[in-house]
Amino acid sequence: MIEARELSKRYGELRAVDEVSFTVERGEVVGFLGPNGAGKTTTMRMITGFLPPSDGTAVIDGADIFAQPLDARRAVGYLPETPPVYPEMDVSGYLRFVASLHDVPRRERREAVDRAIERCGLSEVRRRVIGQLSKGYKQRVGIAQAIVHSPPVLVLDEPTVGLDPIQIGEIRQLISELASPRDGESAHTVILSTHILPEVEAICRRVILINRGRKVLDQPLAELTAGGTRLEEVFARETSRDEAPAGEASA
Ligand SMILES: Nc1ncnc2c1ncn2[C@@H]1O[C@H](COP(=O)(O)OP(=O)(O)O)[C@@H](O)[C@H]1O
Ligand SMILES: [Mg+2]
Repeated sequence: MIEARELSKRYGELRAVDEVSFTVERGEVVGFLGPNGAGKTTTMRMITGFLPPSDGTAVIDGADIFAQPLDARRAVGYLPETPPVYPEMDVSGYLRFVASLHDVPRRERREAVDRAIERCGLSEVRRRVIGQLSKGYKQRVGIAQAIVHSPPVLVLDEPTVGLDPIQIGEIRQLISELASPRDGESAHTVILSTHILPEVEAICRRVILINRGRKVLDQPLAELTAGGTRLEEVFARETSRDEAPAGEASA
């Protein structure tokens, strides 16, 4: 469903993302883990078509981001690190607007918006102005705009950052629900970035860990924590390795 093929992004001397390859199968929920500055956001912006890679490519639901950019973008719903905010719009008006941007046909828009509102638990606030919502509700609106065009793939960049513990629990629950099939809708394939380890343990079945732009680990969570190893230990071990500055030969 998602295939990153030796994706790289260079900013001058800095290799923000360095030949990162991975595959996410249909229906999988994968945690994209790494310390701040590891390259998570940059990778996500490349696979969603918002940032051209310096090298490599990505294939989303069979569509190459270079060869079939429109198909690739249509197949993906993206919650960016800082969601686009239109504080003056009301929730349903904003979602109708996003649906039109995604080319949802006019006669299907109302149903698409209603479905996103329902799935994200926004029914009570659908007429409310976004700027007046709590942070937890704003994040639900961010997720609703990612699913309004029914994409098979969801890319969520730090979906619970800045929320209180109750809101965090609710958003994790919502993501888990989106990852399960329901009423004829198939399950979303989800990749979510985080630097919060319990988040991964709560919702992901597999972990991809990046550090300094390079993938250092790609494994099912159950395998990683088999024998009582804690994810913290794995994280500390994998991110302390290779302290040489990025870009230097480490042969
Ligand atoms: N537009 C940019 N110009 C220069 N450097 C950037 C730019 N965007 C990101 N970086 C750098 O790339 C690295 C990876 O950033 P990012 O992908 O945001 O990491 P993460 O999301 O894992 O915290 C960081 O060192 C960051 O400073
Ligand atoms: Mg980031």
